Amino acid sequence: MSQTLHLTRPDDWHLHLRDGATLAAVLPHTALQFARAIVMPNLKPPVTTTELAAAYRQRILAALPAGADFEPLMTLYLTDRTEPDEIRRAHASGFIQAVKLYPAGATTNSDAGLTALKHAWPALEVMQELGLVLCIHGEAVDPAIDVFDREKRFIDDQLIPLRTQFPALRVVFEHITTADAADYVREAPGDIAATITAHHLLYNRNALFQGGLRPHYYCLPVLKRESHRQALLAAATSGHPRFFLGTDSAPHARGAKESDCGCAGCYTALHALELYAQAFESAGALDRLEGFASFFGPDFYRLPRNSTQVRLVREPWSIPAQLPMGQDSLIPLAAGTQLDWRFAGVV
Ligand code: DOR
Ligand code: ZN
Repeated sequence: MSQTLHLTRPDDWHLHLRDGATLAAVLPHTALQFARAIVMPNLKPPVTTTELAAAYRQRILAALPAGADFEPLMTLYLTDRTEPDEIRRAHASGFIQAVKLYPAGATTNSDAGLTALKHAWPALEVMQELGLVLCIHGEAVDPAIDVFDREKRFIDDQLIPLRTQFPALRVVFEHITTADAADYVREAPGDIAATITAHHLLYNRNALFQGGLRPHYYCLPVLKRESHRQALLAAATSGHPRFFLGTDSAPHARGAKESDCGCAGCYTALHALELYAQAFESAGALDRLEGFASFFGPDFYRLPRNSTQVRLVREPWSIPAQLPMGQDSLIPLAAGTQLDWRFAGVV
C-alpha cells in the first residue's frame, strides 16, 4: 500500500472565499493546497461588474499570506440586467475566467440571480461568441418541486433547452449531485464539464440525520441518496475529462449554521485534498486523482497545467473540532473525525 502520493499541484474550480475577516481566515487554507481557484461572486452585494471583480481580486491578493503562490480566477455574477458590453469587458480583463448563473433564490446570496434564463440571452450570446465559460448552479427553484428532484428538473426543463439555444456556449455544471447530472454531462453534445465536491463523493443524505440534525452536512444542492453518491464517485474516478475538482467550500460562522434556519455550505478548504484522497481510495482509484484534481480543470478552462507538485502522506490525523474565523468560529466538514491522508506541502 502506497504511503506517499505525489500530484501535480491541483486547482479548485469552485470556491467561496467571502470577504473581510472570513476571507482572511479561509484563504490560507486554499492557497496552501491549490495553485488557483475559481472564486464565486455571491458576495453581498454580488460581484456583477468587471470593476467590482478587479477590486475583489485585489482584496484577495492583499489577504494572501506572505510567500503564498496562489492565483484567484475571478467570476462575474450574472443578473437579469447583465449587459453584453459588461461581458466583453470581463473577457478583455484577462482575470475573469467565468460567469456564474444562479437561478434567483436557489442558494446563499442568489437573490440577484436570474428570474428567467431568457433575461440573460443577450449576455449568453456574447459569452458564446467569446468562449467565456458559464458556470451554472443547476437547480430548479419552484418551491413546489421536491428538493431532491431540483437538479434533475433543472436539466430537463432549463439546461437542455438553454444548450439547444446556445450550442457553442461553454458550460460547467457546478457541484453535480445526482446520477442524472453525471449521465447528462458524460453524454451531452458540445463543450460541457462538471465539478464534483468532496462532500458529495463521501456522504449521502443520511449524514444530515445521523443521530440528530447535522447542520454542518447541509449544503446546496443537498446531499442525495446513496445510489447518487456512487454514481458521482464512479464519474469522478472514471478518468473522464469532463469531471473535475471543485470543492464548493463555503464558510459560514458556526452560529449561522447551528440556527433555526441554518445556512447551506460545507467548509472543506482546510482538508480538501485529504477528503478527495479518502474518496478516491475508497474506490481503489488513487491513480485517477491527479487527472481529476490537476489536469482536466485547466484543460477545460484552456489554462496551462501547473508545473509544481504537492505531496500527501498516509498519516492519520483528526480534523479539528473548530477553527477561528474573525470573532466567530468555523466548523470544518467531518470535524473531529479521522482522515488517512495528510497534506505534506508543495514539492
Ligand atoms: O451549499 C452551498 N453554499 N451551496 C451554494 O450554492 C452556495 C454556497 C454558499 O455560498 O454558502
Ligand atoms: Zn458554490
